[in-house]
Amino acid sequence: MDDDFHILIVDDEPNIRSGLAKGLAKEASRIDTAGTVNEALDQFDTGRYQLVIADVRLPGDRDGLELVSLVRGRQPGTTVIVITAHGTVETAVEAMRRGAFDFITKPVDLNLIRQQVAKAREHHHLQSENKQLRDKLAEIGEVSGIIGNCRALKDVLTQVRQVADTDATVLIQGESGTGKELIARAIHDLSDRSTGPFVAVNLGALPESLLESELFGHEKGAFTGASRQKPGCFEIARSGTLFLDEVTEIPAKSQVDLLRVLETAQFARVGGETLLESDARIVSATNRNIRQLVDDGTFREDLFYRLNIVPIDVPPLRQRRDDIPLLADHFLNHFCTRHRRPHKGIDADALQVLAAAGWPGNIRQLRNVIERLVVTVAGEMITTSDLPAELTQAASSTGSETGTLAEVTEAAERRAIQAALAAHDCHREQTATALGISVRTLHYKMNRYGLH
Ligand SMILES: Nc1ncnc2c1ncn2[C@@H]1O[C@H](COP(=O)(O)OP(=O)(O)OP(=O)(O)O)[C@@H](O)[C@H]1O
Ligand SMILES: [Mg+2]
Repeated sequence: MDDDFHILIVDDEPNIRSGLAKGLAKEASRIDTAGTVNEALDQFDTGRYQLVIADVRLPGDRDGLELVSLVRGRQPGTTVIVITAHGTVETAVEAMRRGAFDFITKPVDLNLIRQQVAKAREHHHLQSENKQLRDKLAEIGEVSGIIGNCRALKDVLTQVRQVADTDATVLIQGESGTGKELIARAIHDLSDRSTGPFVAVNLGALPESLLESELFGHEKGAFTGASRQKPGCFEIARSGTLFLDEVTEIPAKSQVDLLRVLETAQFARVGGETLLESDARIVSATNRNIRQLVDDGTFREDLFYRLNIVPIDVPPLRQRRDDIPLLADHFLNHFCTRHRRPHKGIDADALQVLAAAGWPGNIRQLRNVIERLVVTVAGEMITTSDLPAELTQAASSTGSETGTLAEVTEAAERRAIQAALAAHDCHREQTATALGISVRTLHYKMNRYGLH
């Protein structure tokens, strides 16, 4: 422990002051003394103390107990140990109640107090470490607009911070709507590439014929319609970050091309000969089980290893329910402001339903639900009856089915598709991806179950 540790000893007896100061000299980087509460307060004006050791009985109109309360107000991070006369348990209890860290009884045993000081010092050290970590996490949240307080998200943010100022390739995995793109942006914003571009390309949304040209650019006349030279994402993202979203959707042929670029950092525009360099930092994301795709042989293993240097897993919302009230409140304020509506609240029952819902569409679904409520609810309070059926139904209908296995399975499938459609505002591609099926299969099943 090499951080500053300043102790203030407050006692009216000069020989106790000097005895303690001498005895604790090795435990502190500085020791000051005071004879009264007022003298102690004067010291606070000029110095900052990590530990105050104070006798309870002090001359003047204020005693050591009052000092405990005053310290909490003036130097909130400071630990206080009080010294009480033998047998005055009530005083000790009162001191602890006011926030003292510990107490010792007179006559003072130097060995004992050394131990307690060491404990206080350890405590202080941990506290300041925690505080630094909290500050850093809060800073990441502020930079990137990531809301959340739960352990799981904090772990993700810690990884974000660790990886941000390296050039390591990151693969972000998580269900649809969990905030993968937000995380990717946070990595960029916190890196020293933040002054460079953040270029996002969705590999699931591009037809195969356009993919290569989108990634690598093309020369004039490279194909019909290529009326002029166009730079691709790898070129535009130089000295910045290239975000390859839905990376598993890249066709087999382009997987080879991508792998080569990642290995050599060189590429040529479509229809061009010249090799260009790109130092873009690669962050990719997927909501599918990429391991499974590798095992199935649809995604190249070597490409997977290239992309997966640092994996970051973003937890689904149902595994971080503690954050639901926080997120709901955040989106509520956001959309009330944005849609110029008076500010609203969510009543306790409704909040409970929100916190218990399944959220297959994760934070995106929550965000959409809240936006809808902001627009549709006229009153000041959102209540359970305002909530969409998709939330209340899912909670009440589990386990209530009877029938053949096929009937139960179909009912569950229908509900899952319905919920996913709602979560993605009926966006077919997103719904299919979220469900891990093709758009064709989705259409087929929607027809079958009469979902439109
Ligand atoms: N922790 C969070 N705090 C605030 N907003 C969030 C958080 N996580 C996600 N969001 C919001 O939820 C929405 C979905 O997030 P994002 O687009 O990053 O998800 P995704 O994981 O990329 O989803 P998909 O796999 O469907 O592309 C966005 O509007 C985003 O701003
Ligand atoms: Mg996304």
